[in-house]
Amino acid sequence: MGASVFETPVTTLAMSIALLTLFVISGYVQCATKHYDFNIQMQTVTRLCHTKSIVTVNGKFPGPRIVAREGDNLLIKVTNHVTDNITIHWHGIRQLRSGWADGPAYITQCPIQTGQSYVYNYTITGQRGTLWWHAHISWLRSTVYGPLIIHPKKNVPYPFPKPHKEVPLIFGEWFNGDTEAIINQALQTGGGPNVSEAYTINGLPGLLYNCSAKDTFKLKVKPGRTYLLRMINAALNDELFFSIANHTLTVVEVDAIYVKPFQTDIILITPGQTTNVLLTTKPQSPQATFLMSARPYETGQGTFDNSTLAGVLEYKSSKSNKILPLFKPSLPAINDTAFAAKFANKLRSLASPLFPANVPQKVDNHFFFTVGLGTNPCNENQTCQGPNGAKFAASINNVSFIQPTTTALLEAHFSGQSNKVYKPNFPYSPKKWFNFTGTPPNNTMVNDDTRLMVLPYNTSVELVMQDTSILGAESHPLHIHGFNFFVVGQGSGNFDQNKDPKNFNLVDPVERNTVGVPAGGWVAIRFLADNPGVWFMHCHLEVHLSWGLKMAWLVLDGKLPNQRLLPPPLDLPKC
Ligand code: C2O
Repeated sequence: MGASVFETPVTTLAMSIALLTLFVISGYVQCATKHYDFNIQMQTVTRLCHTKSIVTVNGKFPGPRIVAREGDNLLIKVTNHVTDNITIHWHGIRQLRSGWADGPAYITQCPIQTGQSYVYNYTITGQRGTLWWHAHISWLRSTVYGPLIIHPKKNVPYPFPKPHKEVPLIFGEWFNGDTEAIINQALQTGGGPNVSEAYTINGLPGLLYNCSAKDTFKLKVKPGRTYLLRMINAALNDELFFSIANHTLTVVEVDAIYVKPFQTDIILITPGQTTNVLLTTKPQSPQATFLMSARPYETGQGTFDNSTLAGVLEYKSSKSNKILPLFKPSLPAINDTAFAAKFANKLRSLASPLFPANVPQKVDNHFFFTVGLGTNPCNENQTCQGPNGAKFAASINNVSFIQPTTTALLEAHFSGQSNKVYKPNFPYSPKKWFNFTGTPPNNTMVNDDTRLMVLPYNTSVELVMQDTSILGAESHPLHIHGFNFFVVGQGSGNFDQNKDPKNFNLVDPVERNTVGVPAGGWVAIRFLADNPGVWFMHCHLEVHLSWGLKMAWLVLDGKLPNQRLLPPPLDLPKC
């Protein structure tokens, strides 16, 4: 066999290339570039026997899963085929120096108009776990959302036993009506918007609702196995309690940060938050079916959707044809704030050598923000349906945030032409001090403005967020773009500057991107402003976001080239 083809140098080269490709495919090269196509298109969907046409990604509801690995570069091409303007936000992704890919409309980009597309280009750095993506304009996220799952780097294990299977559980809210019409009408009249008809799990309301037995999410499990449930609350306006009958859950991660594992029968999850739990099934098939249910935790005074979603946990090996007994979980009372406080206190960072809690120990910038509701005056010649004939509003330090409409804040900053777009003077603390959680003041009017808080690069921030009782104390899930923060303290009533900081946890506080400001209480967070750009912060209850419970941080560039915001991509949408 003298003349084997394998002996020619050319084929040797070809073989090495083939081998190299194999290495790449098999993961020897750790970081990959992943491409996704997101086509924004209408889709007809039926739930609760109501059929409507909704905005979706690729016709899917909920939207497609993004699955990546820590270190991956994602290129997601979003093309808009609907009449609404759209943007997509990658909730919880740090976006280090890549603020142009963050997604909130008029904050980091102008929206993608009909027929246009934009490639979101970012790298996942130092994060692994469950996050999600959603539309970030008006109320389109009611149907435009999906999981964003980040696996650890190749050959890096979880800090907990490897689960048999991983299952995303994404909670949503179903409205029979058109959510764009609902919010537009509410902003017109000044009243509270209509509430949803159902909660959903992976898009399905479940058997407790009318007409929905066939739309029930089923989790089929084997006995004696451990499952990782990746829970995401994508509901518009409601925090949720969740529980599985006769099963205990072990919380191992929140907002893509590992936590010290703890056991609980009930999870509380606010819109914007994610929670990974381990579910260990019974050693033998229990010859029973178990409901998994979620229903709201509500502290406000407005009307809300008081319904209960249910999915089914089904053991595969149940052979018998007889009807199995059905167990239902019990959930806390609708307004169980004591449970909320206890649950929040159990969450601790892993704070291990591999996953340290880098809590800023020194504080460069101290801020005290009140968060809550308020009112705007009714237009002349109009009757309004808000409190006392006024319009509902919401604010931070009594500033109700007005978004620009002809440019994005980040572009205004980057081009040095911020003058007419925003003011760099967001208040450090409220102008008027009052007993925030006592009898509210008579004047509930807010100030409408576009003001940013400027932070020098790499300075540390301590921010106390204080709920107010104006128009009712209420829990507010506050979310910050571009950062994770440490929750160093929380309490009920008014924050006490002399007493409370002494009890701050600077050792193993939970790190996350969305935290519930307790109803009638306060929360203290710390973070390092190490990411240049304009970063939105807002209540993740969509109705409060619409009413102005939002602001933005402007983090300046550092001195070194790698501490600067990168220039905008060429395809950045125009207003
Ligand atoms: Cu989940 Cu500003 O968003």
